[in-house]
Amino acid sequence: MYAHPCFINCMTKEKWGILQKQIPRRINVMPRISEPPEWREPEDVVVKALQYMRRGGKALDVGAGRGNNTICLAHNGFKVHATDKDPKQLKRLQERATKANRFLNQKISTEVRDVKQGIEGEFDTIMCNRVLHQMPRELALAFVADMKQHTSKGGLNIISAVMQSGDFWNAAQDRNRLNKMIFKDGFYAEVDELRILYNDWEILDYREELKAYPMGNPEDSLSAQKNKTALLIARKPLVSHLN
Ligand SMILES: C[S@@+](CC[C@H](N)C(=O)[O-])C[C@H]1O[C@@H](n2cnc3c(N)ncnc32)[C@H](O)[C@@H]1O
Repeated sequence: MYAHPCFINCMTKEKWGILQKQIPRRINVMPRISEPPEWREPEDVVVKALQYMRRGGKALDVGAGRGNNTICLAHNGFKVHATDKDPKQLKRLQERATKANRFLNQKISTEVRDVKQGIEGEFDTIMCNRVLHQMPRELALAFVADMKQHTSKGGLNIISAVMQSGDFWNAAQDRNRLNKMIFKDGFYAEVDELRILYNDWEILDYREELKAYPMGNPEDSLSAQKNKTALLIARKPLVSHLN
């Protein structure tokens, strides 16, 4: 962006800060990956959270999958521990990261780990995107509590959760359409449910939006499913008697 020097001179530090926050930060958030855009884009909420993340902080990506969000954070200088119950996904994540930039994997560690095993250690940022609907509701709720507990004070949780409206939700109501991507008894968030789970934290961003979910493989031209999705960035209080 170009700003005329006279314009900068009459800006106070405070005004400049506000202006900077308004500039969309999508430029250079990802390395170049030669795949269709819908397969390589990180989650918007993750890109937005970059501005709130502590420099040098340690991040955990739970259910990292092919790793768009892991790669985005690593590309932006954060150390990321990526976990998934599926080893094939983690292998693909490492291959994609190496292909994008051969140094990126130095910032990424991976571990085959099921959400059922809980979280080990403490992290400055914990994210869990598009995963909670793939497990029973009680496990998802217990896991959100675990995420909160294993976040350092002043640290962030970033979550995108499939809601009770849209293609996934409709398919989950129809037993005949159940497959490995559609879970009948999974956690489908109710309106405002995710925000309420974090009512003891500072909510930095909360939205409920229709989101596209690409299906199959990047090579297939299957149309995306669309579902209402709750998107949250929340910060753990520095001083708290809770969690
Ligand atoms: C739809 S993908 C989302 C991947 C990634 N988070 C993203 O936003 O692109 C869901 C991922 O969650 C993983 N997953 C589902 N249930 C899990 C569990 N119980 N423990 C760990 N990973 C799980 C799946 O293997 C899959 O890679």
